Amino acid sequence: MNIKTIILAAGKGTRMKSNKAKVLHQIAGKSMLQLVVESVDDLAGDVIVVYGHDGEQVQQALQGLDITWAEQNEQLGTGHAVQQAMPQVKQDDTVLILYGDVPLIKPDTLKKMISGLDSKTLSLLTVKLSDPSGYGRIVRSNDNICKIVEQKDATKEEQLINEVNTGMMAVNGGLLAGWLSSLKNDNTQNEYYLTDVIEMAVNDGVQVKAFHPEDEYEVQGVNSKSQLNQLERHYQTELAERLMDDGATLADKSRLDVRGNLQLKGLDTFIDINNVFEGDVSLGENVIIGPNCVIKNAVIGSNTVIKANSVLEDCMVGNDCNVGPFARLRPGTKLANGAMVGNFVEVKKSMVGEGSKISHLSYIGDAEIGKGVNIGAGTITCNYDGVNKFKTVIEDGAFIGSGTQLVAPVTVGKNATLGAGTTLSKDAPGDTLTVTRAKQLTLKSWKKPTKE
Ligand code: UD1
Ligand code: CA
Repeated sequence: MNIKTIILAAGKGTRMKSNKAKVLHQIAGKSMLQLVVESVDDLAGDVIVVYGHDGEQVQQALQGLDITWAEQNEQLGTGHAVQQAMPQVKQDDTVLILYGDVPLIKPDTLKKMISGLDSKTLSLLTVKLSDPSGYGRIVRSNDNICKIVEQKDATKEEQLINEVNTGMMAVNGGLLAGWLSSLKNDNTQNEYYLTDVIEMAVNDGVQVKAFHPEDEYEVQGVNSKSQLNQLERHYQTELAERLMDDGATLADKSRLDVRGNLQLKGLDTFIDINNVFEGDVSLGENVIIGPNCVIKNAVIGSNTVIKANSVLEDCMVGNDCNVGPFARLRPGTKLANGAMVGNFVEVKKSMVGEGSKISHLSYIGDAEIGKGVNIGAGTITCNYDGVNKFKTVIEDGAFIGSGTQLVAPVTVGKNATLGAGTTLSKDAPGDTLTVTRAKQLTLKSWKKPTKE
């Protein structure tokens, strides 16, 4: 079975009060449209997105995804929208219709709708709501679905029906093409309603089978910032529950935000309050993440502690490391096992060897630091001359005195010691003390100034 998923995303989204296209607003760090595209990843078919308003913006944002496009110049209704994608659909394809602003639809629900579908059936996703107003109503006779009426076209009795159309359906492509071509817009809104195909299906002897989502969030659309936030919070709560199921201990499941994929490699990881994880992050066993950290695209080894207020991006942290509080690990940082990066230390594109320590107030950039190195407080690698970047090498066992500037390119040899306050511009040989320091003077004749 060849599946063509058509995602409707041509609407304007005026109520979002935003310059950004509606379907590009994000949930958990991904655009709604991307989430919908990902919901059919497992179905292994083609995805066609119907675009209109803010088309260029939408296409640009989704450049990397494997989808094709169909333009709807004028928004003449959901039926008209689907029609724009039909030139890309073959007679024996199965068509699945989804919405770019209904982002939390679950793959399992879609799989159920697709399995068992043949050219004699249509799968329709419906849901019972305590307040059905605004939605198309499912009209049944003797339990069988016979049509959908839109709120604005519904009689008083029909308006009492609480089973509503979510809009999502699956059906044979040939059948759908036929029905769409005979749609009329003789209704209150003068639109070509996709929903009218249901009655046509029934008239053609095609059985309309209703499917239901696991929860209401799956079929909730987003029309405002408030609805966007409701879905964001729901999604985050689900993610937090999954993390706890996998063995993480959370200080507060409502004060954790995952914008991407957070993977747990082992048990007993503890995540304190107000943490944000972005992109792909993996945490080893027994990891402790203190409060208020932002961790993006990072691999963190087992038994490592990341203390409060640390910011990590595109980096790798080994086992048994100690980072923070207030540490900043920038892209390209690698900490070997047992390394320590303390408070107010910034590390960029550097390798820090096993057991080495940078405990306080330092900047380490473009450096290669060996094993067992101790870097004193206030050490700066001067890696940039305003045009080019240069490398600093600090070999195993070196001791860098406090307040040292390492003017790269420069190498500190194995087991070398640099005296405090050194400005190192030439290589320091191993196993010796190197120090650059002006002679200390005490002026005995000096007198404290007095007030005139
Ligand atoms: C539609 C259904 C209704 C259902 C409801 C669920 C129809 C006629 N009605 O109503 O039965 O209960 O969704 O939310 O289908 N779109 C386009 N091009 C168009 C019109 C719409 O791409 O010309 C897109 C919109 O961007 C949106 C989706 O289709 O993502 C639904 O359109 P909308 O106008 O919100 O339909 P409703 O009136 O809510
Ligand atoms: Ca709608």
